[in-house]
Amino acid sequence: MPPTNPVLRQIHRAAGAVPPLLNCYRKVRDVSKSDPLATALYRKLFDRGRLRLPEIEAETLAPESGDIRFPVSYPLLAGEDAPLLDMLFLLNLAKGRGVKRILEIGTYRARTTAAFHLNCPEAFIASYDIQVLDSPYRRALLNQPNIQLRHASFADSAGVLRNEPPYDLIFVDGSHRVEYVIADSRIALEILAPGGIIVWHDYRPNDFRNRELRVPEGLEVIRQTVPVFAVKHTTCAVHVSAAKKSSSQT
Ligand SMILES: C[S@@+](CC[C@H](N)C(=O)[O-])C[C@H]1O[C@@H](n2cnc3c(N)ncnc32)[C@H](O)[C@@H]1O
Repeated sequence: MPPTNPVLRQIHRAAGAVPPLLNCYRKVRDVSKSDPLATALYRKLFDRGRLRLPEIEAETLAPESGDIRFPVSYPLLAGEDAPLLDMLFLLNLAKGRGVKRILEIGTYRARTTAAFHLNCPEAFIASYDIQVLDSPYRRALLNQPNIQLRHASFADSAGVLRNEPPYDLIFVDGSHRVEYVIADSRIALEILAPGGIIVWHDYRPNDFRNRELRVPEGLEVIRQTVPVFAVKHTTCAVHVSAAKKSSSQT
């Protein structure tokens, strides 16, 4: 398939005019996919200026949690699992803040859901996905009374969610298409508890393997209405809601 990027499309078209050149182009492209230098160059050329959020230190968002437990089932890594550093940030955040209600958009194989449960066993957790993927993590959660793995589109469930108590931690990790990032975020902002936190995943540039990531563009829209920060050393972004004023403050 020809590339969508206009510059790459021109190179592809030029190479296509001479068959040996096309083969050479494909070889270079395939090597580039696994080469960090090529990914860095690709990002410099085509992703420059996309990450514009102000940064925040992870340590300012929660007290230290002491320790973190991590569930492990094979395969150790599947395609859309959150990376370990992001998991460390998320789990420390959930446990350190002592959250009572967690909402996840994008269950995938439920590894992060299971990790939330291990570290916050008392918390109620709802996790949404439009697909059901069988996995040891999912099976371990199925009979837990305080876990709900909901097979539904998050955006289509806004009505249900508005009638539930608000959530202390919302992890937005569903579709990364810009219109979904915006729609999911707007619902998340509505149902966030006072003093609660929203974490968006995959706030990062694209690479050769995934050029469809539009979380940065979605968050540029969202930050027009509320403060949003990129969390240093992770691919997460956050919004923290103001805590409810006590009656003595009003
Ligand atoms: C990146 S994966 C989630 C990874 C998971 N949060 C984790 O940390 O392991 C994205 C998931 O979002 C799901 N998804 C896509 N669109 C969705 C929607 N509208 N509502 C709920 N889930 C959606 C996909 O089916 C996919 O399983």
